Amino acid sequence: MRIGTPLSNTATKVMLLGSGELGKEVIISLQRLGVEVIAVDRYADAPGHQVAHRAHVIDMTDGDALYDLVKQERPQLIVPEIEAIATDKLAQIEQEQLAEVIPTARATQLTMNREGIRRLAAEELGLPTSRYAFAESLEAVQAAIDGGIGYPCIIKPVMSSSGKGQSTIKGPDDIEKAWEYALSGGRVKRARVIVEEMIDFDYEITQLTVRSLGRDGAIETSFCEPVGHIQKGGDYVESWQPQPMSETAKSRAREIGETITASLGGRGLFGVELFVKGDQVWFSEVSPRPHDTGMVTMATQYQNEFELHARAILGLPVSVELREAGASAVIYGAMDETGIAFEGVEQALAIPGTDLRLFGKPQAFERRRMGVALAYGNEVGDCRKRAVEAAAAVKPVKGE
Ligand SMILES: Nc1ncnc2c1ncn2[C@@H]1O[C@H](COP(=O)(O)OP(=O)(O)OP(=O)(O)O)[C@@H](O)[C@H]1O
Ligand SMILES: [Mg+2]
Repeated sequence: MRIGTPLSNTATKVMLLGSGELGKEVIISLQRLGVEVIAVDRYADAPGHQVAHRAHVIDMTDGDALYDLVKQERPQLIVPEIEAIATDKLAQIEQEQLAEVIPTARATQLTMNREGIRRLAAEELGLPTSRYAFAESLEAVQAAIDGGIGYPCIIKPVMSSSGKGQSTIKGPDDIEKAWEYALSGGRVKRARVIVEEMIDFDYEITQLTVRSLGRDGAIETSFCEPVGHIQKGGDYVESWQPQPMSETAKSRAREIGETITASLGGRGLFGVELFVKGDQVWFSEVSPRPHDTGMVTMATQYQNEFELHARAILGLPVSVELREAGASAVIYGAMDETGIAFEGVEQALAIPGTDLRLFGKPQAFERRRMGVALAYGNEVGDCRKRAVEAAAAVKPVKGE
């Protein structure tokens, strides 16, 4: 692909749908390559809005609004950063060749619904997953559990992310509460859930997988070193790279990454979420875009996951080489306030081998991710300690 001059009629234009902290880093990577970037989100002054050439505020689940904006801006590439988008409209845009959807419109459709991606992975591709069933009533949930999923199990709305509406069922007494909670947490008010067997894993990883163009113009698949992470209440709190794995588990993780991303197609970076126990690896889900746990690559790789995504979507070569070990730890808002401030930034950055990203979100919530601390070094355990220490040093305060 030729890259033109931004803000001229030769510009290479990319539109981000969703402009949070992950989109912001993709935008910065694109900016560095001289791409003209249009950032879209549902609220003003989103992190990515602040670093793009132009910013728009629309409801991205409104297909007509989305279509009108694409017609107005005429980007060559559309890069979804979130799941909650009118993906049927993306399919239309792709079909009309109005713009290229990254990685493909079908990938965005399949991954926004747990049923689409789970059936593809388990039933079509034969990948190992937890046992599962779909249900639309309390009785159907009970029947699914009695029919083989058993206890403990996990229930999730099919359309939800970041752990919303998700809970663990330990025994029959938990079912009703879990069902009610799932109904309240879904993105759409349709009472459909997935019930999943609880996998007793040793650890979980994100297998960052890149589909890019090779020298001969054919798609090449490359694999970052595994990212280990810890999830709490549906969100990741710490991640590190590389996660030590047995050779067998590592190659299985890559095989699963290859299979699922090949099936979704297109170009770009994917975050393949896997559970690991000994040599056994289960597929959980996949993001057809940079993954929050992959923010650690800003400290560890020559090309971080955002740069890899930017290069891959532009048809440029990539390198997934690891520079050193590292870790990330999340900084939360700790209060519900608009325009907060951060103290302790100098203490955090005084810790050797650390770095920081403050996302610039206009509004904080108690459990909203507002920044991330990064640490790099020789050894993952030591990096984790320093990342956590740096994150704890940063204190959100009221912004008066
Ligand atoms: N079947 C399972 N067995 C064991 N743990 C599970 C299972 N499903 C989910 N979990 C745990 O819950 C976390 C979140 O689950 P999942 O990724 O399906 O939800 P999500 O809402 O899509 O989260 P996110 O959007 O943050 O990725 C997993 O990373 C894992 O720690
Ligand atoms: Mg997940």
